[in-house]
Amino acid sequence: MTARYEVPAGKVPVPGARALVEFADKSLALFNVAGQLYAIDDGCPHQGASLCGGRLDGRVIQCCAHGLRFDLVSGYLLNSTALKVASYPVEVQDDRVFIVIASEESAP
Ligand code: FES
Repeated sequence: MTARYEVPAGKVPVPGARALVEFADKSLALFNVAGQLYAIDDGCPHQGASLCGGRLDGRVIQCCAHGLRFDLVSGYLLNSTALKVASYPVEVQDDRVFIVIASEESAP
């Protein structure tokens, strides 16, 4: 089953900004990089620090706890596939923004 969660209009970040959004039991970090939105789990896959507060460089987010860097597009650790933060498709319809979350149970 796939769920689409609408991001409240006031929460949608402007270009260069980010927002922490909570859906069900998840905390997601939503980034706006030059008008493109990216959603990832807020918890760093290393030790769980918040990625929403990390240092953004282009489409790369650097965790402020130990400095690991992740690609916002793939979710992978930079130059590696050893660690991956969950990333979610973002759909924009008119002025509304949705984050698409597929529940794990539905995976084939
Ligand atoms: S918790 Fe993010 S790099 Fe260690």
